[in-house]
Amino acid sequence: MAAGSGLLLRALGLAVLLLPVVPRGPPGAAERRCFCQVTGHLDDCTCDVETIDAFNNYKLFPRLNELLQSDYFRYYKVNLKKPCPFWNDNSHCGIRDCAVKPCPSDEVPDGIRSGSYKYSEEANNLAEECEEAKRLGAVDGSLSKETQQAVLQWTRHDDSSDSFCEADDIYSPDAEYVDLLLNPERYTGYKGPDAWKIWNSIYEENCFKPQNVKRPLTSGRGDDGGHMFYKWLKGVCVEKRAFYKLISGLHASINIHLSARYLLQDTWSEKKWGPNVTEFQQRFDEVITRGEGPRRLKNLYFLYLIELRALSKVLPFFERPGFQLYTGNKSHDAEMKNLLLEILHLAKSFPLHFNENSFFAGNKKEAVKLKEEFRLHFKNISKIMDCVGCFKCRLWGKLQTQGLGTALKILFSENLIEKIPESGPSYGFQLTRQEIVALFNAFGRISTSVRELENFKNILRNMR
Ligand SMILES: *[C@@H]1O[C@H](CO)[C@@H](O)[C@H](O)[C@H]1NC(C)=O
Ligand SMILES: *[C@@H]1O[C@H](CO)[C@@H](O)[C@H](O)[C@H]1NC(C)=O
Ligand SMILES: *[C@@H]1O[C@H](CO)[C@@H](O)[C@H](O)[C@H]1NC(C)=O
Repeated sequence: MAAGSGLLLRALGLAVLLLPVVPRGPPGAAERRCFCQVTGHLDDCTCDVETIDAFNNYKLFPRLNELLQSDYFRYYKVNLKKPCPFWNDNSHCGIRDCAVKPCPSDEVPDGIRSGSYKYSEEANNLAEECEEAKRLGAVDGSLSKETQQAVLQWTRHDDSSDSFCEADDIYSPDAEYVDLLLNPERYTGYKGPDAWKIWNSIYEENCFKPQNVKRPLTSGRGDDGGHMFYKWLKGVCVEKRAFYKLISGLHASINIHLSARYLLQDTWSEKKWGPNVTEFQQRFDEVITRGEGPRRLKNLYFLYLIELRALSKVLPFFERPGFQLYTGNKSHDAEMKNLLLEILHLAKSFPLHFNENSFFAGNKKEAVKLKEEFRLHFKNISKIMDCVGCFKCRLWGKLQTQGLGTALKILFSENLIEKIPESGPSYGFQLTRQEIVALFNAFGRISTSVRELENFKNILRNMR
């Protein structure tokens, strides 16, 4: 184990961050160290965290959760077989392939397998890691006959439109429907250098950041504790700052899920998933992450508010009598549409949104340019998702990027949506079923994260 994890740590360059040296302190200290900044007002927004918690955990989350169990929202079409367009995936044990077919030990490079004693131990670790990732990362693709029928009909109900993500994806013969309820987002064993590479290229090349500005906690020289980075971030326009914060929020949300659905016990008779506080602290504790953790959590709330705002703005599109959540069961469809509208009205009733004049609403020419820039950056991020080695992570990564992309599309189309006629075609603004499913499921993940935080808060509060 030691050799294997040493290798991982070196490759990550994050040894400091990963060592679980959690200093002990007076009661409540552990809680404060993750949540110290996550209270009161949020930047760029007139709202506070406590109000969001209460609104989400007791009002919105339960309803959204019910909606996402329905047939319309549980099936998502995705192409998981697209090759990574940016680099050759030469990850050490080919985790990428491991997730669909067994990973025979001869896939472990010879040099590692037949080396000295130290290396063969390493190879064993790699093979084990590989096995684990294969088992936990695989996607369960079983669909019932009825679903396959319904799915055929959905295709005919879809409209096309300009999208923020790679839309050609779903027309590929490789694209398949997956049941999201059968494939929950949780710990998969996919971490270390491969996962880090994905996030790194998202942050480094797709967040408007000049290369000479180092992100906090990147390894090597030039680490000034994020001083230069935050100075740069403060200077850019509110939308570009938002872009970085959204990505950071998404990253935080995914890490909260992995910590909240950690594989705690794994025997042949039973698998137990639950919260792992150590894992959570390694990602969010102020001391361990040198101040980054609480910022990440703040960005999660920011992401929450952006998606909430998108939902409140898109209400006119869903409110039209002609819109259906079509599955073929009339009474059920109507029931679900009511629930959907109830959620959207709830989103609209939330009082603390952004200052209307400061966000996505500069002068018209600027706004068009910005929209295009956002779209290109976003398209690229959705392509990077094809480089995610673990299939289950890839599935949720793609879905959440498409969901956030759809939210941005809505925010950039505010004027068009306001003009949608009550009946007839909604010129200029459309959402496909895929986009709708992604939008609500992505928001569902963020909403779940906010709720998980309450649980971690309680655990940490009672820790010494
Ligand atoms: C897209 O992402 C890749 C990989 O990170 C990068 O090499 C490329 O420059 C990016 N392109 C744009 C337009 O951002
Ligand atoms: C919790 O996560 C840490 C790593 O972050 C791991 O070392 C530990 O074994 C996990 N605990 C359990 C009970 O799985
Ligand atoms: C249609 O939905 C209703 C309400 O959800 C349910 O009671 C009924 O069994 C469904 N009918 C069919 C044919 O599935």
